[in-house]
Amino acid sequence: MYNLLKGKRGIIFGALDHNSIAWKVAERAKEEGATFVLTNAPIAMRFGEINELAEKTGSQIIPADATSMEDLENLVTKSVEILGGKLDFVLHSIGMSINVRKGNHYTNQNYDFTHKGFDVSALSFHKVMQVLYKQQAMNEWGSIVALSYMAAQRVFPDYNDMADNKAYLESVARSFGYFFGRDFKVRVNTISQSPTPTTAGSGVKGFSNFLEYAEKMSPLGNATALECADYTISMFSDLTRKVTLQNLLHDGGFSNMGISDAIVNDYMNK
Ligand SMILES: NC(=O)c1ccc[n+]([C@@H]2O[C@H](COP(=O)([O-])OP(=O)(O)OC[C@H]3O[C@@H](n4cnc5c(N)ncnc54)[C@H](O)[C@@H]3O)[C@@H](O)[C@H]2O)c1
Repeated sequence: MYNLLKGKRGIIFGALDHNSIAWKVAERAKEEGATFVLTNAPIAMRFGEINELAEKTGSQIIPADATSMEDLENLVTKSVEILGGKLDFVLHSIGMSINVRKGNHYTNQNYDFTHKGFDVSALSFHKVMQVLYKQQAMNEWGSIVALSYMAAQRVFPDYNDMADNKAYLESVARSFGYFFGRDFKVRVNTISQSPTPTTAGSGVKGFSNFLEYAEKMSPLGNATALECADYTISMFSDLTRKVTLQNLLHDGGFSNMGISDAIVNDYMNK
């Protein structure tokens, strides 16, 4: 613990259960001295695990469907009230594809599902930022982070329409990040994380093979959820004030690899 977030206030979206990346971020943020509000979709509250996290971190929970402007406006207004001042950090850790869930192939999408998945996984990031921007809810030198995946740049066939959602998410970080930087000195970035065994991650077809492949390809191995939380904390801290408009790869080196000895050995021994 380094007291990196001492006195800082924030909102953390997307802690569903112990495996969630947002769950680990909340635990680490607490350890680093932050106070924050936890939020998730009203339907996710039914599982109830978030109450445990709220108790552990001394946080309040405000349910909000990240596709609803009304919910988001209420969330931001109330968070500033509860925390006693403007925000220093916001984590968008939200993803869901109905096409993936229903097993619809990329070439055979149900576009109602595509729209819904886009709204939840991608447009919600714009909506969150628009509400923060209009309410002028961020402190100077604050930091906004969303979580992404490398399928935004490269083809991973089973990632399906989520690949397109992540491409939009990363683009919005740059486009909105410009206005946040110019007007409020707030930075906006995405962190592109290794495959991680969570509810959202495991929904992708063939996830365990894929996890193993990435592990063998990456010189440092896959980044865990806790390591992603550590990186996120550094992005919320004052040590990264001039990093903005970036898609930051947190993947053990996977993205710059062509082939590794481990993968070649596996192939030869087939
Ligand atoms: N797990 C991976 O392999 C991996 C890799 C790279 C990036 N990511 C990204 O990390 C983020 C967090 O996912 P995770 O892996 O921790 O899985 P997770 O399933 O624990 O988290 C996804 C969260 O999205 C929330 N959510 C869904 N619909 C919502 C809505 N309408 N409003 C508000 N919240 C809603 C869920 O309730 C859940 O808490 C996602 O953006 C995901 O795409 C995950």
